[in-house]
Amino acid sequence: MTATCTSPAAPAATAPERFVRVCAILDKHGRDPARLIPILQEVQEEYRFLPREVMAYVATSLGLSPAKVYGVASFYAHFALVPKGRHVIRLCDGTACHVKDSIPILDAIRKRVGLKDGQVTSDDMQFTVETVSCLGACGLAPVVVCDEEVHGGMTPEKGAALVDAIRSKEAAK
Ligand code: FES
Repeated sequence: MTATCTSPAAPAATAPERFVRVCAILDKHGRDPARLIPILQEVQEEYRFLPREVMAYVATSLGLSPAKVYGVASFYAHFALVPKGRHVIRLCDGTACHVKDSIPILDAIRKRVGLKDGQVTSDDMQFTVETVSCLGACGLAPVVVCDEEVHGGMTPEKGAALVDAIRSKEAAK
């Protein structure tokens, strides 16, 4: 099944069904190449990462080269080029958080999630655990951001409890 894109700039004026949401996002931004970053942000919200074929589709639709779109996506740490887990836990390891023992918190969260060495996303795709540099909330150090929610004054126990709370919520669905 195909869907009609509203913009004449759309390739062949139709899009495969899997690109219908991408089409809507492109149309919302007037298919303006200058809106590439907000477009990629919304596409990422849709897929939770930026699949290569979607970036290629965005590039064609905006009249940009795939290399240009990939270059922008890979430049910003905010964009994910590989699939992430349903819940993303970001632990700050900036200076203020590091001196307040962020690493034992990271270890506790990773252990509770069940990540092996070098693994950032759980096998069941439920969790991605990352470290980031300063989140701009140093007064709350050590800080963890879980699914965009900020948790200050973290401890290894609170980190593990955060994972448990998410699992319980998921189980209750
Ligand atoms: S160093 Fe962690 S929020 Fe600034």
